[in-house]
Formats: sequence, structure tokens, C-alpha cells
Amino acid sequence: MNETRAFAPATVANVSCGFDVFGMALEAPGDEVLARRAEGSLVRIRSVSGDDGRLPLDAKRNTAGVAVRVFLDAIGSRQGVELELYKRMPLGSGMGSSAASAVAALVAVNRLLGDPLSRSELLPFAMEGERSACGSAHADNVAPALLGGFVLIRSYRPLDVIKLPVAMPLFCGLAHPHIEIRTRDARALLPDCVPMADAVGQWGNTAGLVAALCTGDYGLLFRSVQDLVAEPLRKNLIPHFAEAREAALAAGCEAFGISGSGPSLFMLARDRAAAAAGAAVVAALYAKLEVGCDYWDSRVNMEGAQVLDTESGQAESASGGLNCVLENGARL
Ligand code: HSE
Repeated sequence: MNETRAFAPATVANVSCGFDVFGMALEAPGDEVLARRAEGSLVRIRSVSGDDGRLPLDAKRNTAGVAVRVFLDAIGSRQGVELELYKRMPLGSGMGSSAASAVAALVAVNRLLGDPLSRSELLPFAMEGERSACGSAHADNVAPALLGGFVLIRSYRPLDVIKLPVAMPLFCGLAHPHIEIRTRDARALLPDCVPMADAVGQWGNTAGLVAALCTGDYGLLFRSVQDLVAEPLRKNLIPHFAEAREAALAAGCEAFGISGSGPSLFMLARDRAAAAAGAAVVAALYAKLEVGCDYWDSRVNMEGAQVLDTESGQAESASGGLNCVLENGARL
């Protein structure tokens, strides 16, 4: 095989209460990467489309290039690789754009080399891509993009990642108001210490959310999607946050929050119609305020990244094991 293509989806990190420890994959949008064998031993970014020329072609500064370089070095491969990136989601949106590029590139190159590593073994390299993009090797976008579903990062040292069961149909609306927030800046806003009362509330909610997903308890799920740590500070970066929440809930969604570090807003619902209605009313609200806003609706995507086999034209999804425990101690 000389070239292969892979897709990796957008993701909602944090899901309100799980700062840096929860993330879920959406069906769309997502990025595609074509990887091709090349002469020599370098990783090169041949082209990037869909980014308005904003992403670096220098592989050392591009999240996909960084992830593939550390992967090839780790497996001792001297294979030269050329990457073409097709960005199909906005940058700086809180939808896991950098994660999707790194994951799609890793999945494509791994396949090109005959799949020497499993999906979960690719995770630390995708995290290095995140470190290059925002200074922090958080896994709550790359893990669900790679593995699909709703993912818990129980520990970073050592890395211990669990793909949770989702025992009920669960749908997500996503609205992306056209304001740019850099993850690096949104992280810099957060305090080093959290008051004990907020910490107690937050770990109650994270545990509640896991229990709800395992048992299919919608009521518990929706009341657990609350953030006492990051949202009170970060919502100030997103104009009309409170009105957007009110509109989404009135349209039938039952939980609402900031997707990752924002500005995208996610909402959860029991059915697709409510998720779609919630996303549409939020977009309409921003349109009225003359802020552009894209929106999507999706079921939780249990498959994650896919190899798009260029020879057969068939898509093949992630491995999908329920537990992935990595002992290689990725650094945060
Ligand atoms: N957990 C990260 C953050 C996700 O909130 O900073 C960034 O998409």
C-alpha cells in the first residue's frame, strides 16, 4: 500500500463536569488526512485545505506532522511520509479540530505501515500533537476521536483511558458562533486551586455522569452535566451564553455547556430532533445578533476514526474495545 486516507471526527471535550477527563465523539464534522509513502525519512505536509492558509506546512509546527513524527520515532521507522490535510471543521472552535487532524494522520500512517500499533497505543502520539497545538497534552479530544464513543481519562500518569458504555440513545447539538478562542488562552484563565465546595460538587457530577451512562438514566445524566470549575470563568468569553442556554433548553435539549474550551456550545437530548432544534435556535439567536454561527446535530459516534481505504473505497472503523489501559505514562 502506497497511500491511505483516514477520517477523524469532531469531539466535545469536558462535557461540562469532566474538565480534561471526559470527551465524546460526534459523527460529523471531521477532518480527513491522506498519507503517502515518500522517499527519505522525513514527514512532510504536502498540502492543507479548508484552513484559509492558517495552518503551518512545517511538519514540526503542525499537529498532524508532530504526532506522526513522534509515532515513527517511537516504532523505529525510517519511512518517509507525505501528508495531505483536508480540514473540514473550524479552527479554534472547541470542537477538537487539532485533535481530529492528528488522529486522522496517525490512523492513516499506522495503516500505511500495516497497523503496527492498536488504536489505544496511538493515543500518546496524538497527545503530543495536542501539546504542540496548545501547550497541554490533554487527551479528552484525541481519545474519543481515536476510539469513538464517550471516553473517560481516569488518569494521565499512567495513562488510563476507559471507553464508557452509553446505555441509551444520546444526541448532541453543537453550535459554533464565529468567535475564536485559543485553547491556550482559555486554559490560562483557570485557577490553580478550586474551593473545596466546588470540588465536591464537581466530582459528584463526574461520578453521576458515569453512572447515568452505564445505567441509561437520562435524568441523572442531564443533572450531572454542570461545570462548577471552568464554565463560570470561560462563559465570559462567549457573548450571550445565558440566552443561548435558555434557547436550547426551551427547544427541547436537556443539558447545555461549553464544548471543550469554546466558543462552541453543546447541548444534549434524548432524540435527534431536539438536538437539531436546540442547535438551530442557538444559531438563530447568534444570527440575530449578527454573529455567524454554524451548527450540527449528531448521535454519539461509537466508532471514532475510520480508515477510508483508497483502494477499495470502503470505510473501516475503530477497534472499539471497552477498556484501554495504557501504562506508558504520557506526560501532561
Ligand atoms: N479539556 C480541554 C480544555 C479541552 O478545556 O482546555 C480543549 O478542547
